[in-house]
Amino acid sequence: MSVAIFPSTPVWLPLFVVLLLPFLSLYLLQQWKKAGKTAKLPPGPPKLPIIGNLHQLGKLPHHSLWQLSLKYGSVMLLQLGNIPTLIISSADMAKEIMKTHDLAFCSRPCSPGPKRLSYNFLDVAFSPYGELWREMRKIFVTELFSSKRLQSSWHIRDIEINHLINSLSQASPNLVNLDEEIYTLVDRIICTVAFGKSFGGKQFKDQKFKDFIDETMKMLDSFSAEDFFPSVGWIADALTGLRGRLERCFRNLNDYFEMIIEEHLDPARPKPDYEDFVDVLIGLFKDQTSAFHLTKDHIKAILMNTFIGGTDTSAVTMVWAMFELIKNPRVMQMLQAEIRSCVGKKPKVGTNDIAKLTYLKMVVKETLRMHPAAPLLIPRETIQQCKIGGNNGYTVYPKTRVLVNAYAIGRDPNNWKNPHVFYPERFKDNNIDFKGNHFELLPFGAGRRICPGVVMAIGTIEFTLANLLYCFDWELPGGMKREDMSMEEQGGITIHKKTPLQLVPIKYNCQD
Ligand code: HEM
Repeated sequence: MSVAIFPSTPVWLPLFVVLLLPFLSLYLLQQWKKAGKTAKLPPGPPKLPIIGNLHQLGKLPHHSLWQLSLKYGSVMLLQLGNIPTLIISSADMAKEIMKTHDLAFCSRPCSPGPKRLSYNFLDVAFSPYGELWREMRKIFVTELFSSKRLQSSWHIRDIEINHLINSLSQASPNLVNLDEEIYTLVDRIICTVAFGKSFGGKQFKDQKFKDFIDETMKMLDSFSAEDFFPSVGWIADALTGLRGRLERCFRNLNDYFEMIIEEHLDPARPKPDYEDFVDVLIGLFKDQTSAFHLTKDHIKAILMNTFIGGTDTSAVTMVWAMFELIKNPRVMQMLQAEIRSCVGKKPKVGTNDIAKLTYLKMVVKETLRMHPAAPLLIPRETIQQCKIGGNNGYTVYPKTRVLVNAYAIGRDPNNWKNPHVFYPERFKDNNIDFKGNHFELLPFGAGRRICPGVVMAIGTIEFTLANLLYCFDWELPGGMKREDMSMEEQGGITIHKKTPLQLVPIKYNCQD
């Protein structure tokens, strides 16, 4: 994961421009040299000296970039500070980037902020494409997210869903903050899967682990000048206090992970009935026969990426799904009818029921099409020069940052009829899914970099929604109309609903 890639236009920009004036001449010289080259570059909006197109990102870059793409096309080249940035906004071009030329486009920009800090696990977590990344990926896919392990973690989701149903049943028929309930659920599931039962709510330095992760997410979403001006941006970051906060945040994470690993290594620890991620990783750590020697830093990096990758994204998707269902009572009714007729008179939806719920699967796809949790995915970086768009196409240089606008692609009328309408039936007679083969639907990315947590995420989302809709009917707070529900967004890497989703759960009596 990379830090602070999607900023809104920051307040310190004028100060920064003054600081950078001496570099203007150097910049102009570079531009002049580049202009002399004959390669055909993608089009893009005119840029300002030094900051390039940074000022055009606005508060919600996936929207601003989408609007710019309507004018300049589905392949655009922007200059964000010092960084040439390619913006991809169509399924065809996404396929070129993530399939045809996946290798050339598969690195991540290395975030200088965290790398400057003296924690080795950050070097691992932010490692560019190469041997180390491939080893880490192999561990994710074959050890942590293998179907056997996912199967064995189902009971955790079951226990946590019971907590949620109990909590909502007690609240019924009063107003609840559904965002909070869903975030708590996802936190508890991922904490238990990764650290084991006893660590979920464990306090450390008077804080819960959740607070450290929340702070890390804030850090990753906040604007770091160093990401756009790698050689001098740290001055602005120091002046705004961001560097100090970064340091504190990653020190806390490091110390927390250290404590968890040490506790798992303790010979007196009783053998757990469920092997969590740390147990699995410690097994690899102790395995001296393997060619790749796993260290504590590798374990910390994997844990950090799991939490950053898995918590917000899954929770945000469920909140958007519930939002759309309340807004679209026709869909809500059909979905509840499907779930309730399939499940019968059981107290709750079981894991085996999920496979039968075909309309639910369409609703989840439609939610991910309209509200991809990370609308610009995670930035990539080219590792070699490449030509895209056919023989007469554009040259892309190495070290170009690449943003794929999954939000724009999900709302492209060339792929989707009435793209702004929430209509799950559009998935009825086709096999379009989100596993990286259909480039018009890319909430999890595609190619080498595709999210390794897809199966776990979809399992959790479908299971949670099915239970929320089976066990409860949902109403808006007194006096509120559907038309009044705000769809406003906010965020950075992941995009949230700006105002919390407040709803009234009415307990449904499944024995009737
Ligand atoms: C709805 C839920 C989720 C969404 C929308 C989502 C989306 C994404 C996206 C867009 C990427 C970047 C893909 C690319 O660059 O092409 C990613 C990467 C990643 N995701 Fe997910 N994700 C979700 C859930 C999860 C879960 C549950 C986990 C783990 C528990 C997870 C772990 C990761 C990790 C570790 C990466 C980094 C992979 C890499 O850089 O190679 N994600 N995710």
